Amino acid sequence: METKASNSDPIEKFRASFHHSDELMHFNNAGVAPTSLPAFEAVKNWNQWFYENGFHGIGQASEAYENVRSGLAGILGAKAQEVAFFQSAAAAISQVAFGLKLNPGDEIVVWDQEYPSNYHPWRLACERTGAKLVVAQSGENFSTPQSSLEAVLTPKTRVIAFSWVQYRTGAITDLVAVTRIARSRNILTCADIIQGAGLLPFDFSQSGLDFACGGSHKWFVSPVSSGYLIAKQDKLELLTPLLVGAMTYGGPDSVNEAPQPLAAAASRFEAGSKAFLEVLALGASLKLLEDVGIVRISQEVEWLSKRLMHGLREIGYAIHSPHGIHHRGSIVNFTPTSHSRFKSVNEIAVQFNQAKISFSLRPPGVRLSPHAFNTSTEIDSLLSVLS
Ligand SMILES: Cc1ncc(COP(=O)(O)O)c(C=O)c1O
Repeated sequence: METKASNSDPIEKFRASFHHSDELMHFNNAGVAPTSLPAFEAVKNWNQWFYENGFHGIGQASEAYENVRSGLAGILGAKAQEVAFFQSAAAAISQVAFGLKLNPGDEIVVWDQEYPSNYHPWRLACERTGAKLVVAQSGENFSTPQSSLEAVLTPKTRVIAFSWVQYRTGAITDLVAVTRIARSRNILTCADIIQGAGLLPFDFSQSGLDFACGGSHKWFVSPVSSGYLIAKQDKLELLTPLLVGAMTYGGPDSVNEAPQPLAAAASRFEAGSKAFLEVLALGASLKLLEDVGIVRISQEVEWLSKRLMHGLREIGYAIHSPHGIHHRGSIVNFTPTSHSRFKSVNEIAVQFNQAKISFSLRPPGVRLSPHAFNTSTEIDSLLSVLS
């Protein structure tokens, strides 16, 4: 299959929206992706705005911030009232894990290959409440099949807290299959969607999820340090706000003495002043993704990722990402074999560092994660470093 990129292809617009240099190849986009040009410009422009306007700039910035909330909701198939911004995905996940009222004996199910930010909040919430953390075992080649999750469900299961796309291997958990079984057993679902959102089409309203959490700095190509929670409207009341301030209630002009109801929307979780610059930058990147189209981005990434896997196999490396329906998107995890030129992941790391190729060491091997701004020429260069 050949890539469809041509001058009129929106992918060219996407590529043109990033800084390119012969010195550095970005193959760790599942770690921290480079910031898009529109996001970079947004930080510059809004920074100037606050420099010049201070408090008098707040109204316009607040309006723009709310537009980002609506934009994020739109791109992820949610309602604006269901979206709350946080400082990180970890903070959003913590709001769910510690905000739910767990009881002794409740069981929380996670996968055995979760990123620590989708493990420790649940582990600690269990420790504090007497609930039990149940770890589902991955299947063949790190796949995350529905059957392995189902095997650990019991009448005590309260929450399935899983990553949609696993950070090490790119293994996909079928959202709709999991939420269907969860709903039939009265189990809540909370998905960490950071490794899929912006890269693969996602629709919160169709997913059946109760909660979804993610962040800015991977497939949303925005500055590090914005996270978000999407809470289904009828599940909002299940979460006690962890951080509390003026914005939890009536806002900065409300009077302290009077009892105030919680803000009606998920914005109740944003206790105080907003992280304007980060969120407005995220908004600029979301607009870019929308213009280019997530379907087109996912096609391009899929193509680059398959090409990478194929090339690595050809030169003797072993791939540790699942096959077929269990893997979509970008992430490729590989290790050396007796047939490859380099015999250890550390040797590979040295080569990549010398060649200025960004990557990550993630068990069981080396993780590469192309974005749609990468090119097949870059993949060929990367392969030539290893062959
Ligand atoms: C699955 C997953 N969840 C969460 C995170 C971290 O997000 P944050 O640093 O915003 O908490 C990562 C980052 O590597 C991740 O891969």
